[in-house]
Amino acid sequence: MGKSKRTLGIITLCFLLAFCGCADKRETGSETRPEASVTGEAGEGQNVSEAAAGAAQTPTGNAPQTPTGNAPQELPTGVSPEQSPTAGEPTGTTEPTDAAEPTETPESTVTAAPTGNGKPTATPKPAVTAAPQKPTATPKPSRPTEGQKPTSTSTPIPTQSVKLGTSLYKRYEGYFYFGTCVNASYLNNSKVTELVLEQFNSITCENEMKPDALLNQYQCQAQGKVVITVPSNTKKILDWAKKNGLKVRGHVLVWYSQTPDWFFREGFRSNGALVSREEMLSRMESYIKQVLNYCDTNYPGMFYAWDVVNEAFTDDGTGYRDCNWYKILGEDYITEAFRFARKYASAGTKLFYNDFNTYINYSDKLKTTRICNLVKELKKENLIDGVGMQAHLGVSYPSADDFVRTVTTFSNLGVEVQITELDVMTTANASGWKQQADYLDRIFSALEKNDRTGVCNLTSVSVWGIADNYSWRAESTPLLFDDNLKPKAAYYSVLQQ
Ligand code: XIL
Repeated sequence: MGKSKRTLGIITLCFLLAFCGCADKRETGSETRPEASVTGEAGEGQNVSEAAAGAAQTPTGNAPQTPTGNAPQELPTGVSPEQSPTAGEPTGTTEPTDAAEPTETPESTVTAAPTGNGKPTATPKPAVTAAPQKPTATPKPSRPTEGQKPTSTSTPIPTQSVKLGTSLYKRYEGYFYFGTCVNASYLNNSKVTELVLEQFNSITCENEMKPDALLNQYQCQAQGKVVITVPSNTKKILDWAKKNGLKVRGHVLVWYSQTPDWFFREGFRSNGALVSREEMLSRMESYIKQVLNYCDTNYPGMFYAWDVVNEAFTDDGTGYRDCNWYKILGEDYITEAFRFARKYASAGTKLFYNDFNTYINYSDKLKTTRICNLVKELKKENLIDGVGMQAHLGVSYPSADDFVRTVTTFSNLGVEVQITELDVMTTANASGWKQQADYLDRIFSALEKNDRTGVCNLTSVSVWGIADNYSWRAESTPLLFDDNLKPKAAYYSVLQQ
């Protein structure tokens, strides 16, 4: 982490401490906070990380909504991604006032090949692999003692091999893919890529395939139609995945966030009026068609799933999220997006509805039910293949039981379930890491058994980052590897060996 980033982090932490002091005052809305989440509130003597650990995805949605924000509702109370000292940098074009001339052009077209269906095959990796997949001479590390103290974030990445000799994807081969998100910075560190290739057989671009990365305002304005330009960072990741035989989850086609506001406006102008329903449907179709065609053409068979629509419902599931898509097209923007995605996706690419807080189902907060109803509707036209559960969790909320039960609830609809963005916020100390490991152990012992015995139909699990200092929520140390790329107790919980 750079010095300036660290300084920014300290300043932000001070801000957060002051902000969380007001948490109780802001907690006066009409919504009832679920019991389980109460432990997540910043109280006296509790630090920000502890509050964060318990406040994951609670339906109170205290975090302020920002117009162009990145899922602020999922952050610990009072924190938005923009405020997070370590949040990953979204790439690509983000609402320039004047459309800048692009520097890149999309790749030329080649015919796409369809991919297979269903569960991952036992050996998803092809022969062409840059990094050897066999365990190296590096001895298998001993399982960390429970609650091992996290190492300092300032320790540099080791120069020796970081390979473990155990592998998450090999552990679950034949059951489900095991993946991580990757952003362009990962590729600058050979230890990171070495570890990713040993542990994972699937990746998701953290930001590089979102609409704000792909849409080119200059070209849209110049040509008077939707034009995508695939940035070099995106290509770098996808080429690396192709070379190493990794499979890819496409993320994301239609989302309220990280989609430029000008995309919805006349003339693709930032100050234009919102376009008509007809025009927006045509833009949606064009965008989806171009992205899917680009992927099939340049990376045939590599994309096994796409998040077609992300986070269409409010945080707690009480209704539809108000956004430009909803404003212009109404509720059925979701169905329309799936229709276009089905039309242009190759046969082997599975289509997903992806969301967070998917396990909330009580009182009037029926997010699970809403998603189930949506799936049933979309299934009537054979438009959907699965539900993506983001799974930005905290050690004290939701309960492992509730989470695991929801995987089964969705599976029972006859669709696949993929855990798409797993991270578990906890306090950055020994007891926090023990809690994190215990929590993941409860989840994975149940999921492993349920998937093996057909109780659920889990086809992919992805963590949202390789190591704590790469996480969008780095301060809550939510991942399986520490800042030195050493496996945490949490890693062994997920490995279930
Ligand atoms: C996050 C990225 O991790 C951050 O780098 C970015 O600043 C904001 O978006 N739900 C999603 C993901 O579907 O795309 C979000 O990723 C996390 C919440």
